[in-house]
Amino acid sequence: MSSPLAELHLHIEGSLEPEMIFEMAERNSVQLPYRDLDDLRSRYKFTDLQSFLDLYYANMQVLRTSQDFADLTRAYFARASAAGVAHAEFFFNPQAHVNRGVALPEVLDGIMDAVASSEREFGLSSGAIAAIVRDLPVHEAEEVFSEVIRLQAPIIGLGLDSAEVGYPPSLFEDVFARARSEGLHVMAHAGEEGPPEYIWQALDLLGAERIDHGIRALEDPDLVARLVDEEVPLTVCPSSNVRLCAVDSLADHPLRTMLEAGLLVTVNSDDPAYFGGYVDDNFIQLRDQLGLTDDERETLARNSIKASFASDARKAELLRG
Ligand code: HPA
Ligand code: ZN
Repeated sequence: MSSPLAELHLHIEGSLEPEMIFEMAERNSVQLPYRDLDDLRSRYKFTDLQSFLDLYYANMQVLRTSQDFADLTRAYFARASAAGVAHAEFFFNPQAHVNRGVALPEVLDGIMDAVASSEREFGLSSGAIAAIVRDLPVHEAEEVFSEVIRLQAPIIGLGLDSAEVGYPPSLFEDVFARARSEGLHVMAHAGEEGPPEYIWQALDLLGAERIDHGIRALEDPDLVARLVDEEVPLTVCPSSNVRLCAVDSLADHPLRTMLEAGLLVTVNSDDPAYFGGYVDDNFIQLRDQLGLTDDERETLARNSIKASFASDARKAELLRG
């Protein structure tokens, strides 16, 4: 019997499935630039992070009301629960919605309504993390974050995502200091496409408790030693890395090297509607293509519970299986 999983690196907007895009466009009278589902699906071929982000942000235009955000979040919980996920900590991008005229309370009310009932409805504990769009102006990140705090949204943390290279963590020291002073958990995408230096910055300048992706840490032995020593979790997303061409194939993925180095690695789906599947699909593909063993899967599952921000009582319950 395998341990339940915590999924710790998931962008809720990246769980917007093509069918949902068409349904929400219809109910919100949004004109889509796609002829049909096949036309949309034919665009899910990416050459790098930016080529994905262009489609990811474009498709969000169908999300308009709190009902849309609640439906999106519940659809993810249902699918994740079927994948063996018992605890989920997921990102959302407030700026991506506010900047196209959706009021922040619509976003927060919808997401938080689904979070509030996830244990009862899906047997899955959950928490939402506001993520800063790092390639937008720094002052905007600070303003939107202030608004999230003013509205007293029960988020668990602050993250940093979107286009990495050219937008180092150092730009965001102030807003992360503020988040820490508000008692929030903090984490950052680093070392997905960007250099190991960005991981050092996330740790030293932002106080990141987890690193999202972090695969390029392997280029820097001193950094690996630090991450091992401090047991900093790395939320790795294997299918995402292949789809965005950060890694050639799952057979070449550094996941096993990371485990063997003693890093606290977890497996996650990132943007499952775009990258070929949910976390169970990631594990099946890792078994088939990287030869991931049952013991390694068990280690990864236990790592995910350990790396989560669930309460000690919830962690103990999940680790009992
Ligand atoms: N990386 C950075 N930003 C993102 C991603 C990702 O994989 N998915 C959604 N926003
Ligand atoms: Zn991500």
